[in-house]
Amino acid sequence: MPTHNRTALITGASAGIGACFARYLAANGHNLLLVARREDRLRELAAELTAAHGVRCDIFAADLTDVNAPKAIMAYAHRKGIEIDVLINNAGLSGNTAFADTAWTALAGELQLMIVAVTELAHLVLPSMKAKGFGRIINLSSLAAFSPPGAGLLYTAIKGYVLSMSQSLDMELKPQGINVTALCPGFTYSEFHDVMGTRETTNKLPAILWQQPDAVVQQAWAAVNSGNPVCVPGAVNKLIASTVRPLPVRLQYYLGKNLNPFKSE
Ligand SMILES: NC(=O)c1ccc[n+]([C@@H]2O[C@H](COP(=O)([O-])OP(=O)(O)OC[C@H]3O[C@@H](n4cnc5c(N)ncnc54)[C@H](OP(=O)(O)O)[C@@H]3O)[C@@H](O)[C@H]2O)c1
Repeated sequence: MPTHNRTALITGASAGIGACFARYLAANGHNLLLVARREDRLRELAAELTAAHGVRCDIFAADLTDVNAPKAIMAYAHRKGIEIDVLINNAGLSGNTAFADTAWTALAGELQLMIVAVTELAHLVLPSMKAKGFGRIINLSSLAAFSPPGAGLLYTAIKGYVLSMSQSLDMELKPQGINVTALCPGFTYSEFHDVMGTRETTNKLPAILWQQPDAVVQQAWAAVNSGNPVCVPGAVNKLIASTVRPLPVRLQYYLGKNLNPFKSE
């Protein structure tokens, strides 16, 4: 099927890596269904991409911490006659407060947004992908999935789930033409650290640790199309991932406790 007949559903398209995926895939002729909470931003981006590339660009404002959101997105797609060929499960954030001091509703929201909604959307898009014998799914994990956890933060554990789940789905689905990739970026320029409240800390990190979102997106797209189930973009991130993983568990625990810049407050 030519690219211009394919549609990508991108969650978290109102900023950062998700907006970058939207620009990249539209430039490659994909129609888009963009999802996030900030409808004004989605509307602006959709107008920009339709004008620049002539692609169809639908938007659906949703809060993915709402358990009903994944089904509502797919019901909207169904009403509009949109079939999803590419899913970019990107929406996410990290809390920055101690586990015991964080309200359960906030923790449950993180789990719903980055585990349940990610898994449910992947499940919901499969029937039409299987019928076509074609699908591409990119799930946003993180370099954190390869790193020791910081005290009290769920983020590392959540991204570890996404990494493992993506590989598992890829094993099952690749024979049916559906490639699944866990994208594991390191520090990437976006609004992530402003939302997390760690901008001051991360600004002090050396530039070599940072990547532009365009580079992350290009490498992820190449990875999913070549059937690579795990994409760690950038040489420095690859080095970190391959160095930390083989360390003894007790040393990883020590590093997480003493060197992690994101200790919960
Ligand atoms: N930047 C990094 O250093 C980095 C590194 C590794 C992994 N990641 C991962 O990359 C993904 C994208 O992050 P980013 O860096 O692009 O951050 P970002 O610039 O803050 O963008 C996050 C996106 O997620 C959306 N989002 C957040 N909560 C949502 C909710 N409840 N419902 C719907 N949408 C929601 C936001 O849209 P609205 O606020 O409009 O809803 C926004 O579009 C995340 O999964 C993150 O964990 C980022």
